Amino acid sequence: MSTVNSVNKVLVAKSNDLSVGIGRRVQVDGIEIALFKQEDQSIHAVENKCPHKGGPLSEGIVSGEHVFCPLHDRKINVRDGLVQAPDHGCVKRYDVETEGENVFIFID
Ligand code: FES
Repeated sequence: MSTVNSVNKVLVAKSNDLSVGIGRRVQVDGIEIALFKQEDQSIHAVENKCPHKGGPLSEGIVSGEHVFCPLHDRKINVRDGLVQAPDHGCVKRYDVETEGENVFIFID
């Protein structure tokens, strides 16, 4: 882990270990985070906690850039964390950076 301006850059995965369309749960400083790899090979990170009642988003069904919460089916965009339906809201997202195979997220 490295620290820049009180933001921690944390190695959380190897990109080859992530599969398109399947979420991956990681834990950093007690925070559960869901990683999602997209068709374009970009990787996105959101808190692994649905804003409705805390459903584990890493276990949801992924369709394109959306994940459907496994508990009550809220549709959430994994790129910006915004809830699309059936209501509004958002889940915290984290910046992601890749260096070769290494996937880092930034935690503040
Ligand atoms: S906990 Fe996710 S939709 Fe209810």
